[in-house]
Amino acid sequence: MLAADLLCEADVAQEDLKVLISEADIQARVAELAEQISKDYENSGDLVLVGVLKGAFIFLADLSRQLTIPRVIEFIAVSSYGKGSRSSGAVRLVMDVRGNIEGKHVLIVEDIVDTGHTLEYLIGMINSHGPASVKTCALVRKADRAEVHVDVDYLGFDIPDEWVVGYGLDYAEKNRTLPYIGIIRPTD
Ligand code: IMP
Ligand code: MG
Repeated sequence: MLAADLLCEADVAQEDLKVLISEADIQARVAELAEQISKDYENSGDLVLVGVLKGAFIFLADLSRQLTIPRVIEFIAVSSYGKGSRSSGAVRLVMDVRGNIEGKHVLIVEDIVDTGHTLEYLIGMINSHGPASVKTCALVRKADRAEVHVDVDYLGFDIPDEWVVGYGLDYAEKNRTLPYIGIIRPTD
């Protein structure tokens, strides 16, 4: 029975979170990233934004709406963590892109780069479709946690090694829709 995994537990109370990046700071940085990306891809054509589900859905929505160049949206879903904050090991493809990205310029849009394994895997997966180019964009990165080096071409913020929630990021599916990024202490 799948339903047991989808129970809606209440979010962690805002009093138990510490704001790390405010809503205003996120919005200002997203606007800067969108401006830079719009400039860089101005004359290249055929830009495909590939959002990584689930965490990147809010970042992708805000970023894509601020671009001033033509683009299409695709999604890919991977799984590397269980319900809490512990890694479940290898990265697993849950859903591949649906559209044909062969010969297109692809920008992978991620919520967070932690060890780097997920983004490294995604770059390989996208490359297997024969795109014209692959670049990466992530809202936040825990630089101290890197286990593999992956270039992040467009980065919002470097953050300390803390579990963060909000703006798409979750802790056991909770707190994804906060407008800011906050720090939470995992209990598992
Ligand atoms: P990586 O493969 O270790 O780089 O992990 C990347 C994935 O781990 C992200 O796409 C998130 O799903 C998850 N993740 C890592 N750190 C956090 C965090 O602090 N909050 C929420 N999700 C996180
Ligand atoms: Mg993610």
